[in-house]
Amino acid sequence: THPPVAELVAVAEQVARAAGRLVHDGRPHTVGVAATKSSAVDVVTAMDLASEDLVRRTLARLRPDDAVLGEEGGHRVGTSGVTWVVDPIDGTVNYLYGLPAYAVSVAAVVGEPTPATWTVVAACVHAPATRETWTAGRGLGAYLDGRRLSVLPAPSLDRCLLGTGFGYVAERRRAQARVLASLLPRVRDVRRMGAAAIDLCQVATGRLDLYYERGLQPWDLAAGALVVAEAGGVVTGLRGASAGEGMTVAGAAQRVAELVRILEEEHADAPEGPAPG
Ligand code: IPD
Repeated sequence: THPPVAELVAVAEQVARAAGRLVHDGRPHTVGVAATKSSAVDVVTAMDLASEDLVRRTLARLRPDDAVLGEEGGHRVGTSGVTWVVDPIDGTVNYLYGLPAYAVSVAAVVGEPTPATWTVVAACVHAPATRETWTAGRGLGAYLDGRRLSVLPAPSLDRCLLGTGFGYVAERRRAQARVLASLLPRVRDVRRMGAAAIDLCQVATGRLDLYYERGLQPWDLAAGALVVAEAGGVVTGLRGASAGEGMTVAGAAQRVAELVRILEEEHADAPEGPAPG
């Protein structure tokens, strides 16, 4: 048993907006200047930590018995059965360069906080630079700034706009480039926008038809996955695995099935299983 979903959505939104304000207002204007880029990385790291710290302090006040799993600070144990899964800045490279696609991603899950075992019940993805806020509550629908979202049936694959992302490990990227090379001629076009949580929300909003990425972490995935599901879309992995246990594929059901089949062929040698970024 957990508190009413609507209450958890309100908490998710309050927390994500507060952290979004901090991150957005605190970004020094010089942060993207090439000459300062190496030191700018430290600024971004510091802001990541400050944002997560604010999220943790706010959650400790509003929901003291809940657990927290964050990108920066690890796992705080709770007693309520609810875990908050938090990415204090998703899209850190965009943030570093002054590109607007970055967000604070906050989700409440019940069950063990791994993609294979959790049920995501409430979510907020707040992108302060574009002033867009996606929310979703399990059974309550998905919304962008209060407007209800609904995933439409996708066009045929050759007319799909496909989003993806890449992990930071070079060896992983070689494999990702091979998969991309095989997909690129088969779709309308490809976007790599740089924030997984926002990419998932764009699928729910109809701004991407499909999205796939290998190696997402729980905090990249949790909130956006609920937004897609509550908009009537599908988020899944390969070979019957859950999203996030290796590959994540999102979109309208029929087209997801087609993309899953292609990715299973491309990844014939890659068993599913959690893998680092
Ligand atoms: C990253 C972004 C990126 C995705 C990477 C993630 P971070 O998250 O979501 O789009 O391709 O896999 O790690 O590091 O900016 O929080």
